[in-house]
Amino acid sequence: MKTIVTHIGMLATPLGRGPRRGRLQGQIQTLRDAWVLMEEGTVAQAGTGPAPGADQTIDARDRLVTPGLVDSHTHLIFGGWRQHELGMKLRGASYLDILAQGGGILSTVSATRAASQEELEDKAEKALDEMLSLGTTTCEAKSGYGLDVDTELKQLRAIRELDARHPMDLVPTFLGAHAIPAEHREDRAGYLRLLCQEAIPAVAAQGLARFCDVFCETGAFTAEESRIVLEAGKAHGLIPKIHADEIDPTGGSVLAGEVGAISAEHLIVCPPEGIASMARGGTVACLLPATSLYLGAPFAPARDMIGAGVPVALASDFNPGSCPCLDLQLVMTLGCLRYRLVPEEVLTAVTLNAAAAIGMAEQAGSLEPGKQADLVIWDAPDLDYLCYRMGSDLARTVIKKGRIVSSSD
Ligand code: NIG
Ligand code: FE
Repeated sequence: MKTIVTHIGMLATPLGRGPRRGRLQGQIQTLRDAWVLMEEGTVAQAGTGPAPGADQTIDARDRLVTPGLVDSHTHLIFGGWRQHELGMKLRGASYLDILAQGGGILSTVSATRAASQEELEDKAEKALDEMLSLGTTTCEAKSGYGLDVDTELKQLRAIRELDARHPMDLVPTFLGAHAIPAEHREDRAGYLRLLCQEAIPAVAAQGLARFCDVFCETGAFTAEESRIVLEAGKAHGLIPKIHADEIDPTGGSVLAGEVGAISAEHLIVCPPEGIASMARGGTVACLLPATSLYLGAPFAPARDMIGAGVPVALASDFNPGSCPCLDLQLVMTLGCLRYRLVPEEVLTAVTLNAAAAIGMAEQAGSLEPGKQADLVIWDAPDLDYLCYRMGSDLARTVIKKGRIVSSSD
């Protein structure tokens, strides 16, 4: 069956099957008065002028169409919420203070251990519905709120189930190295052994994750501990990712390039040697501006990264603590205002470069023949307008693999 989207006022998409770096990050294709022909869930052709025939027609009514957005960093699966931390923060507690008192990530760990897999799935499904309606059609999802083998596997199984039953494509990441659990507080080496000798082999044997991530940070894991975990993951076929330089520069971005991480995340206080290492290692910088906003923290040096040839992706970091926000439209506006990226660079950052950060650039992140027909019709005449209308939801029709999956038209 052929479906065509006609009367597209502006079709805006990066092109390619890998990340775009440097000046190329801002070079996208924009077509006026365009159409996209979809067949069997993939893009057959995109063009301008008279549209070819099809079995079904969707009229974009002169509005903007882009690829479906890709959220390359979420902590989708968790029990409970942490709204009580808002008041704590307003009274002066820092993110790391709350974690050191056994709150923060560790309180979500208790709630996640107590929840059944089904409860976790039902809760995450609501978030996925919301993400889809906001224009996100592919997302990464991490474990990391179990911190024991059974609960980490439970989270990853929930991701697998949701990938099977929800229109969203989910890409799973093992984040057992998210914090030291309370029961290992006096025995860090024991927890590292559990991660490397039990958890990682079990995750890999069951095919439950593509990536292995670690929170390299003061109060979480040192760079040397992070290297041990990421090398163990690699030995079992899990590709490294790393939460690096979010609060303190503890060597995470340098390590990212050294271990050949596919992406490094946050990078708020990334030093020049970290940027150079990522450029050498081919690592995508996955920046999370809504987290900077929520933590009252500085914003990552995105322009320096683009200048150094590091591909930049932007993602939500949706999680119950440092960023309870899953809206990539807001992330796009923040990318312009706080990173000083231009709309074309921002679009690449939330589509093709984000797809590259999660190993999906062959099938998602741009609208060109052979790729998945994942696209959004926005209530916007052009890309500038989408980035500029902060705080309004402009997604009208969301198409996943050629099928309308969300519509508010
Ligand atoms: O990416 N920084 C580490 N992990 C998350 C926060 C998780 C939490 O606070 O629950 C992040 O910001
Ligand atoms: Fe995160």
